[in-house]
Amino acid sequence: QTGYFTYDPGFTSTASCESDITYIDGDKGELLYRGYPIEQIAEKGNFLETCYLLLNGELPTKQEYDEFSYAISRHTMVHEQMQYFLRGFRRDAHPMAIMVGMVGALSAFYHDSTDINDPQQRMIASRRMIAKIPTIASMAYKYSIGQPVVYPRNDLSYAENFLHMCFSVPAEKYNVSPVLADAMDKIFILHADHEQNASTSTVRLAGSSGANPFACIAAGIACLWGPAHGGANEAALNMLQEIGSVDRIPEYVAKAKDKNDPFRLMGFGHRVYKNYDPRAKVMQQTCHAVLKELGINDDPLLDVAMELERIALSDEYFIEKKLYPNIDFYSGITLKAMGFPTTMFTVLFALARTVGWIAQWNEMIEDPKQRIGRPRQLFTGATQREYVDTAKR
Ligand code: SDX
Repeated sequence: QTGYFTYDPGFTSTASCESDITYIDGDKGELLYRGYPIEQIAEKGNFLETCYLLLNGELPTKQEYDEFSYAISRHTMVHEQMQYFLRGFRRDAHPMAIMVGMVGALSAFYHDSTDINDPQQRMIASRRMIAKIPTIASMAYKYSIGQPVVYPRNDLSYAENFLHMCFSVPAEKYNVSPVLADAMDKIFILHADHEQNASTSTVRLAGSSGANPFACIAAGIACLWGPAHGGANEAALNMLQEIGSVDRIPEYVAKAKDKNDPFRLMGFGHRVYKNYDPRAKVMQQTCHAVLKELGINDDPLLDVAMELERIALSDEYFIEKKLYPNIDFYSGITLKAMGFPTTMFTVLFALARTVGWIAQWNEMIEDPKQRIGRPRQLFTGATQREYVDTAKR
């Protein structure tokens, strides 16, 4: 037991904690939220219900769901002074930079009123985070395109409200497409939690010091931004656009296999999945539904993606290394078709993952055995030696 991280020789990797929130079987390609398969939740549930499940451990009754939804709706607006913080960013700031700053800035409004040892106050902070993250994400988007911020509407569903805040403008009426709202809701469900990934471990480590939850979530957003993690959806779409056409795929597959070339096929491979990422299959179905709804029958990016997947899955390099498409492979095509710029892709990932981060943070704070995280190292530096005066160096 080295503080936060424990090492169990029975495992091939360091188990960072005990948790009963999300289970992944990487070899079978299984993902369960509180025991429920992700495929069933995505098909039959909705994102707010998933938030309740991840936070409380059980699916809500209708009354519990209605009370939870109402409680979330009480927190969808952010303090008006947050607009001043938003306007301090360069107008071409990456929306993820705005997300890190704005979520961290929420601490200034709630830090001194959130006693993290009080379960009730932790639940209020959790609801605040889940309610406000779509508002902040839409503010980041609107600011980056020079349009006015659109306030939340509590008469709309969680996904409808987010699309409305992003795509409506004061000058004209905007009706949210039910198919796009359903796709957005599914995308949120698929990204909600994923066990102890890099950003969740970041949130847990930050939270283990007793930092307020808003600052911890800001740390998670910063970690998610990396192209090896949540930034892969933006990187995957940029890669497909760079490949451009099916006949250029072999050139890129060869680069990905070249050990001397740092190029990786974005959207392929995973730290845990050594089989198909179950989210990728639902993401592919959602992608097709969105393209059909929008009448996009011949998206060259989809052709490249489908052919790249076919080639990679039949190539011995990828088969031997068990590299399959992950959730980020199809999400970019879907989000682009829905009208989001690539710079917003990881913002949407962060929006959805906020519930997973806050559920994992709550679980850690509730654990009476929880101590501050203190990973150790294998020291490979100089052994002790005497100081040498400058004249003798
Ligand atoms: C997410 O952890 C999570 O749960 C994350 C996530 C979540 O929901 O939170 O699932 C979200 O981050 C999904 C992953 C998104 N990232 C990408 O799509 C970026 C591209 N993928 C790679 O960067 C890579 O696959 C990683 C970072 C995802 C995993 O890297 P690892 O752990 O090094 O992969 P591995 O150990 O399984 O690799 C085995 C071999 C290695 O080669 P060798 O050293 O054995 O010769 O396969 C190679 C890797 O170099 N490899 C790839 C590759 N991914 C791994 N080769 C080409 N293209 C790739 N995409």
